Amino acid sequence: MATAYRWLSSLLFAAIVVQVGIAGYGAFEAIHKADKAAVSKKAIEDGFNAHAALGGLILVVMLALLVVAVAGRLGPVNVRWAGGIVLLGILQYILGVTSTSVPVLGVLHGVNALALYAASALLAHRAWTTGRLPQQAPASGA
Ligand code: HEM
Repeated sequence: MATAYRWLSSLLFAAIVVQVGIAGYGAFEAIHKADKAAVSKKAIEDGFNAHAALGGLILVVMLALLVVAVAGRLGPVNVRWAGGIVLLGILQYILGVTSTSVPVLGVLHGVNALALYAASALLAHRAWTTGRLPQQAPASGA
């Protein structure tokens, strides 16, 4: 289970990087389309189809991470980290759906993406290094 937790943490981090990248694609695709003709809401949303799909998958990976941490009895710290990320992920989903009607909430969707990036990076780093780093030799008392 610890191995599954490690690989899921890496998958989550990579997916979040891709997710931010394809949000950029959606934004520039909208400008590109608008440059040529009047653009419908649907045409702009089409540029975010991959972002919406990956957003759902990311939430599934977050939940899997939490299930693995709990079922594998990986300890309260790992469960807390995975649980915290699920909460941030749910918030991100809600903001993603509501911000199209209340655009100012999009600010929080962007900023929460940074929180998710940092949290998933720290979680993955912790998952891969805790208990695996060589013990430091005690300082010699010279
Ligand atoms: C951790 C990174 C991110 C995650 C997990 C994420 C997730 C999501 C989710 C789940 C949705 C709702 C999809 C739906 O309606 O079913 C969404 C929508 C959206 N996100 Fe993100 N997002 C992230 C980063 C960003 C960033 C950095 C931007 C750009 C500022 C952005 C822009 C948007 C926009 C414009 C929508 C609305 C798309 C539409 O309604 O077609 N997202 N996002």
